[in-house]
Amino acid sequence: MAGRSLLFIPGPTNVPDRILRAMHRPQEDHRSPDHPTLVRGIFEDLKPVFGTTVGRAFVFPSSGSGMWETALINTLAPGAKVLVVRKGQFSHLFADICTRLGYATEIIDVEWGAATPPDRIAAALEADRQHEIQAVCVVHNETATGVTSDIPAIRAAMDTARHPALLFVDGVSAIASLDFQLDAWGVDASITGSQKGFMMPAGLGILAMSPKALARVADSTQPRGYFDLRPMIAANDTGYFPYTPSIPLLHGLREALDMLREEGLPAVIARHARLAGGVRAAVGAWGLSLCAKDPARASNTVSAIMTPEGVNAADVIRVAYQRHQVSLGAGLARMAGKLFRIGHLGDLNEWMILGGLGAVELALRDVGVRVAPGSGVAAAQGFWEAHPRPAA
Ligand SMILES: Cc1ncc(COP(=O)(O)O)c(C=O)c1O
Repeated sequence: MAGRSLLFIPGPTNVPDRILRAMHRPQEDHRSPDHPTLVRGIFEDLKPVFGTTVGRAFVFPSSGSGMWETALINTLAPGAKVLVVRKGQFSHLFADICTRLGYATEIIDVEWGAATPPDRIAAALEADRQHEIQAVCVVHNETATGVTSDIPAIRAAMDTARHPALLFVDGVSAIASLDFQLDAWGVDASITGSQKGFMMPAGLGILAMSPKALARVADSTQPRGYFDLRPMIAANDTGYFPYTPSIPLLHGLREALDMLREEGLPAVIARHARLAGGVRAAVGAWGLSLCAKDPARASNTVSAIMTPEGVNAADVIRVAYQRHQVSLGAGLARMAGKLFRIGHLGDLNEWMILGGLGAVELALRDVGVRVAPGSGVAAAQGFWEAHPRPAA
């Protein structure tokens, strides 16, 4: 088909030409004396993206999921008790990896589409009088349902319960797109992958840890192999890795960090909020509803949109892809067929979103949802007219 296909899945996101060019280079010597300049700069510049000055960042050849494992095995005792809030497919997978690694996993189940309830975390921690729970694991932005949880409120609940558990936050579809403050919010580990807010191909797992979590690394008795942070820390301290790093991906990350710094993190976060507002205006104009129960917690990086009764969301996704060259995210697990997702994170602007919304309208009409042509597009334009870009 002629023209560009548009990517509106919530990751991988569009890779800007600048990042593609930065990665397109001959292979370099990862033991050269120049290598530490690249590596040290990346670690330094990752810190503000995670909102930390006192913590430490790590980069592994991995996807985001590997960083769940890295955070857990480097800080918790074997078989430790962990508390996980499950409210969508990714928090389900977070709980699943805890179980598979042998942790005693207590799960707070929440309706899919709701946010993490701080009061239920407080209640579970207050009931844990022996302080057996070593970590509370939550997903900041549940990509499966398009719901963002309130991490400071979760930290406040943990503080109210006077519980010493570590707070682990999955920031895969949040970091570098939504506000995140590891230090100020009292988060002990936050994880992501390169293919979302960092606008890169998948391939790097990125993790930031607080001093409290880092202090556990040396003493953890959990058997560790590839994801052991001890050799990683020793090598990173000298500007190298304990294995062969993917240098093109590191150059891509370097470029991504430059792009984020040039736009400015507050502007990046505001852009995501503005673009999401336009998408939500379109959804409203179509007469459809979000999976997110509370509009105040609807995600600024992904909108999960329920299809009307009798309309299989998988058909919308198929037609959008096959006839209109637009990739949409699918409903996952129990949401399969019930919703489709528009990812609006990474390297995007208003006109790109308008193209996606126009294609979604065509696809919806193709499968029999009688949205008025242009209604969502016009609503998004109206939203952006009322919420213009800040002056350059
Ligand atoms: C919130 C969340 N957590 C974890 C993951 C898994 O990340 P990865 O596919 O990079 O392993 C994803 C993937 O989309 C996600 O959205």
